[in-house]
Order: sequence, then C-alpha cells, then structure tokens
Amino acid sequence: MRIGSVSVAHPITLAPMEEHTNPPFRLLMKQHGASLVCGERIDACDVAKRDRRAMRLLSTTPGERPAVGQISGKDPHEMSEAAKIVEAQGFSIVDLNFECPIRRLIGRGEGGALMADPAAIARIVAAVVKGVSIPVTLKIRSGPDAEQETAPEIARLAEQVGASAVDVHARSVAQSYVGGPDWSVVTRVKQAVSIPVLGSGGVREAADAIRFLKETGADGVAIGRGCLGNPWIFQQARSLALGGATMAPPSVTERARVLLNLVEGEFDYYGNHLALKRLPRTSCYFAKFLTDFASFRASVQKVKNFPEFRSLVREHFTAAHAQTLVRDTPRNSEADDDQ
Ligand SMILES: Cc1cc2nc3c(=O)[nH]c(=O)nc-3n(C[C@H](O)[C@H](O)[C@H](O)COP(=O)(O)O)c2cc1C
Repeated sequence: MRIGSVSVAHPITLAPMEEHTNPPFRLLMKQHGASLVCGERIDACDVAKRDRRAMRLLSTTPGERPAVGQISGKDPHEMSEAAKIVEAQGFSIVDLNFECPIRRLIGRGEGGALMADPAAIARIVAAVVKGVSIPVTLKIRSGPDAEQETAPEIARLAEQVGASAVDVHARSVAQSYVGGPDWSVVTRVKQAVSIPVLGSGGVREAADAIRFLKETGADGVAIGRGCLGNPWIFQQARSLALGGATMAPPSVTERARVLLNLVEGEFDYYGNHLALKRLPRTSCYFAKFLTDFASFRASVQKVKNFPEFRSLVREHFTAAHAQTLVRDTPRNSEADDDQ
C-alpha cells in the first residue's frame, strides 16, 4: 500500500490509542510486525504553542518509521501550523482526528463533533495539505450517530482536497466504544474513494484482522485494543495473511522478556515517577494469563523502580504460574477499554 509518498509494507497496522501508543509501545509493535504505527491524538492548539507535554508526545525515533503523528482541532490555520510541527518532528504522515468521542472535545466542536459537518472537515484537510509536504490522512467514524452515515461523503471530499488515505473506525461517534462495530461502513467508504482506506473496530485476534480485510475490501486494518498485552497479534495476522499456519502462542519466558522490554522503555521515556503510575495498567495486560494474577496485580502496586519490577516479573512469569495458554490473546474486557 502507498499512502502518498510513503510506502507501507503490508496491511496490518497499529491504531492510535491515547495513553498507550507512546514511542516505546509503538517501537515494540513495529518490532512485532506492525507495518505502520500511529501516535495518540494531541490537541493542535497545544502543538501549535509547543506545550511541553504535547512536544514530548510528538517524539519519534527512526526505528518506528514510517510513523504517523495525529492531531485534532477545528481551526484550519491552527491545524496547519500544528501539522508543520508534526512534520518537523520527523513523522512520515500527519493524521487528522475527526473521530474522538470524548465529551471535552465534542463540547469544543472538535474531534467526533466534526463528523456532522463534512464541509468543515474538507476545509481543515485542504489547509493542512497546503501547509505540509508529508501525506495527510484522516481518521473518521461512520458518522455522528446510527442515523447519519457521513463517512463516505467526508472521505470523498477529503480525497478531492488532497488527503492521501482515510482510516475509518467502524462505529458512530455516539456509540463511543460501546457495542460492536459495523464493518460494512468501511466497504462503503472504500467504494466512494480511490485513495487507500484503512479501518478498525473489534479486531481482537489475528483471524479477525484477516476477516476484516476480506469482508470490507479495505487496504489496511488498524489493530487497537487487540494488541494490548499481545504484540504478537501483528506477526500472527501477517502469517495468516500470507497463507501460513496459525503461530504458536508465545512462551511465558517470551511474554516476560517483551513486557520487561516495554516497561524499561517506559521508564526511560517517562522517568521513574510517571512510569510507576502507568506500571499496573501496562503490566496487567501482559499478566492476565497468570494463575496468581491477583497477587501479581497487588504486588505491582508496591514496586518502586525498574529493578524491583524485573524481580517481580521473574518471580511470577514462570511455567508454574501460567495457565494453559488456550488462547493466544488475553481478552480485554470492554470495561478496560474506555479512554
Ligand atoms: C484507550 C483508547 C484510546 C484511543 N485513542 C485514540 C486516539 O488517540 N486517536 C484515535 O484516532 N483513535 C483512538 N482510539 C480508537 C482506536 O484507534 C481504534 O479506532 C478503536 O479502538 C477501534 O479498534 P478496536 O475495537 O480494535 O480497539 C482509541 C481507542 C482506545 C480503546
């Protein structure tokens, strides 16, 4: 797949997720086979004024390229100025978020609120395309709610003003993250445009990703919650896409190694204080298969630094503590999923 000037090796990509898709996480997913990775949504107004937190979120390393930086906002000029900074930071693609359902954004008329105003989206996309030389893409939902499907029209308008790809989260804004996605909207968007169409929603296992591509005709699939605690999903999906056999689930030792790798990266990236605050959530996604998960979860709250965490993982991630890995994916409940 080509997104403008950017060549994407295969259709299995990482979806952006606030509080998850930080640089160490993205690098890990890339190393596990995601062809394209995307950072979390950042407010364009914060980027434009080079706010410290926003600029830290906007960091990228050569190992994760091609990488996508995502911004949201409603003012075309501000979005264009922010996109220039995304480009200067070294991202290969800038993605514009018109899908976020969180109340704060909707209240400001940004993110998912714009799904009700295709013309406004087109104006923003046009301004950003003029402002940067990297490809511009957009992330949309099916529409504001179940009654209004604006995605095909928005995709068409965006293509006309120079968007290089469109990524459809197959739920409405009103749905937020509750309830199943309706993949058929991705097919209708695909039929409406000739730029690449990617989609996401409800991919929890490798086989779902393959089914998504087959059923929708999309050029790419973006995996969201399905990769939390399960980076192996990318290689597994890639193997299935190439007609290979289902890959064996990772061993307990491999799970421990990958978790330690990710958490060490988070300590380097966030520093001790912030990394510790994130630690229970990050590590519990990987630890759900342990027979003594409850005891792991209680102990991880008391960890004070990375060496202590390493000892805890070495103590718990042993064959004796592992349930038979009948599933290769620790299933994440919808309750885990709210932003
Ligand atoms: C915790 C969380 C945070 C998310 N943050 C973003 C974001 O920053 N930008 C965005 O475009 N989508 C975001 N999404 C939506 C995902 O990219 C994806 O479209 C969605 O989760 C559907 O895929 P899934 O059902 O496989 O998780 C987020 C989703 C979750 C669960």
